[in-house]
Amino acid sequence: MNEEYKVTPWDVTGKVDYNKLIQDFGTEPIDDKLLERWKRITGSIPMAMQRKIFFSHRDLNWLLDRYEQGEKFVLYTGRGPSGHTHLGHLLPWIFTKYLQDTFDAPLYFQMTDDEKFLNKDGLGMKDALGFTYDNTLDVIALGFDPKKTRIFSDVEYSKTLYRISLEVAKRVTFSTAKAVFGFDNSTNIGMIFITSMQSAPAFLPSVEARKNVPVLIPQAIDQDPHFRITRDVAPKMGYYKPAAIHCTFLPGLAGSDKMSASKPESAVYTTDDPKVAHKKILSAFTGGRVSVEEQKKMGGVPGVCAVFQYYYYLFEEDSQKLSQREQKCTRGEIMCGECKQELADRVVRFLEKHQENREKAKDKVQDFIVSDYSALYDRLKKPQDKKEVSKYKKAMKEYYSTKEGENILIGKTKELEDK
Ligand code: TRP
Repeated sequence: MNEEYKVTPWDVTGKVDYNKLIQDFGTEPIDDKLLERWKRITGSIPMAMQRKIFFSHRDLNWLLDRYEQGEKFVLYTGRGPSGHTHLGHLLPWIFTKYLQDTFDAPLYFQMTDDEKFLNKDGLGMKDALGFTYDNTLDVIALGFDPKKTRIFSDVEYSKTLYRISLEVAKRVTFSTAKAVFGFDNSTNIGMIFITSMQSAPAFLPSVEARKNVPVLIPQAIDQDPHFRITRDVAPKMGYYKPAAIHCTFLPGLAGSDKMSASKPESAVYTTDDPKVAHKKILSAFTGGRVSVEEQKKMGGVPGVCAVFQYYYYLFEEDSQKLSQREQKCTRGEIMCGECKQELADRVVRFLEKHQENREKAKDKVQDFIVSDYSALYDRLKKPQDKKEVSKYKKAMKEYYSTKEGENILIGKTKELEDK
């Protein structure tokens, strides 16, 4: 792999060359022919595909063949809940919402709290579960259809996923995992299994339907190594290989590489006070010149400007307006201050709306989350188990008493408490 950048599921650094990545990973570019086909089938090309934010895929043509033959597909995506959600995380989810609406597709959304617990120093089990709950609010806030969407924490849905994971794990050697993920002797043994947990939801729809169901996985390109493994084992397990569509990373406000949780000022979090977010935008890195005179004479450089990237990725849907902004910038007709101010206002408006939806999501969580406890709860509901219910209630309350994930047992404890 190129030395100037690195893209793995746990580490993205440097300035990513996405064309090179397509070669390195062996995926396929989303070319004009595919875009035309997309348009023929769906009626339009979404902004994120037009702008090559979604730029790469695996087996999309196969998936569309199936679709045109009347075979419905299921969407699967996920999140590693290691902290609050930032705008970069929303990118693939917003696109997934578009896919759900366009193809009327069910969505399985995996929260890999197991992965984050194992991988992140200082992140305890309750923290990971808490962020599962917190991040779930962001997913719901985007407007997914509760009847077609299921969100689950690996830790709480492991009973359902485990059997499939074992089937995967049996077919993946340590040597493959080392080669794909760069594990070494210091890697904890939990991480070695994690990729089989991430594979499981790609097969769950087929297990449930008792027949092969096509699956499409929208994802940021760093997740591709997992799904190379998933796709390798799929035929050995008798399933379709899941198709994939990959996006690039939203650049950080400090310029160049992707938004990073380790640099909170370089990212806008969905939980940021809008005033704080406003400030972050105003201190973003731009492609501006050292003085107004120079800027007027030479123009700015949108290609390296974080602010322009934000318009490009999320905050200017109108492509004509976007290119007008670009031209004005390069001609020195607009100054960075003005451009930032406008973006900051748009970001604030977005955050206000999103935070309102996040609040509302708190009442909807039970419509989205599934867990293995659902089954246990059904058993406990029998009246003769009353004593057991109260024992269970107490134990679970203790088990899940996290700050933000108080309700992590989503609904189920709550329902019990309401009894
Ligand atoms: N491991 C991913 C992360 O750290 C989360 C994830 C699980 C995921 N399943 C997925 C992402 C499927 C994309 C598609 O963010």
